[in-house]
Amino acid sequence: MPFKKAIIVYCSPAGTTRHVANVISDQCHTLGVDVQEMNLAHRPDIEAIMAASASAAEDLCLFIGSPVYVSHAVPPVMAFITRLPAVTSLPVVPFVTWGGACSGMALFEMGTALAEKGMVVVGAAKIIAVHSMLWQSANPVGQGHPDAEDDQLISDLVTHVHDQLSRGNPTAVPTADLAHYPAPVRAEMAKVDLKIAAAHMPPREVDAEACTECGQCAEACPTDAITFDPTPVFGETCIYCYSCVRECPEDAIRADFSGTEARIRDRVKQFDEQPLSQIFYASKV
Ligand SMILES: Cc1cc2nc3c(=O)[nH]c(=O)nc-3n(C[C@H](O)[C@H](O)[C@H](O)COP(=O)(O)O)c2cc1C
Repeated sequence: MPFKKAIIVYCSPAGTTRHVANVISDQCHTLGVDVQEMNLAHRPDIEAIMAASASAAEDLCLFIGSPVYVSHAVPPVMAFITRLPAVTSLPVVPFVTWGGACSGMALFEMGTALAEKGMVVVGAAKIIAVHSMLWQSANPVGQGHPDAEDDQLISDLVTHVHDQLSRGNPTAVPTADLAHYPAPVRAEMAKVDLKIAAAHMPPREVDAEACTECGQCAEACPTDAITFDPTPVFGETCIYCYSCVRECPEDAIRADFSGTEARIRDRVKQFDEQPLSQIFYASKV
């Protein structure tokens, strides 16, 4: 089976998952593979992606990337996977970036959902990244990542997938390999999703005096969750990425992360998850 085209779909509120997508894209270009990159925040034509994956399954490989939020893949990515048609034997590569606290079950749930569609998970990646809630911290968890070594792991994965698909009959990474934590721990993690965790997230305060209603927060929002009345109001689809806080040019949307930072550092110690970055191959070259 040749590998002539890659579709790379991702959600990346703070830009790290997009960075990994770009590394995949660069390596695909080096190998002479055509690339279509799709940021879910830009409302890509998902119907077209689905049609392409159904009709071009012969020479296509689909890469799907998500940040880890509260031990899970983010809702826009899981919703995208749910809507994908069941294209039997389409090669797919799920990848996640995580902030050094706990990668949870994100990669496992993406891999499981894709395998249930009859797709072949030909490789997967977990990449350490700076924690996207700690951008105001002097020394955020995961600082400096992904670094050149992380990027090399990703490039090697793309090369491996390319070689494997060129040889034909790709074998799948066993879904169980993507589960870092044992089933009882995953069962606990499954009980807490983003909606439940939202109660413990720092609230965003809008300073109505400082807000100029410029709309940059709404533009930065990856899930179209912001409306104006007349200042920003956060709707149901909010995933607590805090892009609005990060991007407001007037510093009019604020959140206090001081308590959150301590909780994140406790989780880093509690889970002590190793390795920080990991590539999953179906078989060694
Ligand atoms: C709401 C929220 C929840 C997060 N939950 C986790 C988590 O459970 N474990 C972890 O290691 N990192 C967590 N992170 C950090 C992100 O997974 C990490 O920074 C990721 O690289 C962000 O990707 P992006 O730059 O593409 O947005 C969380 C970040 C946010 C904003």
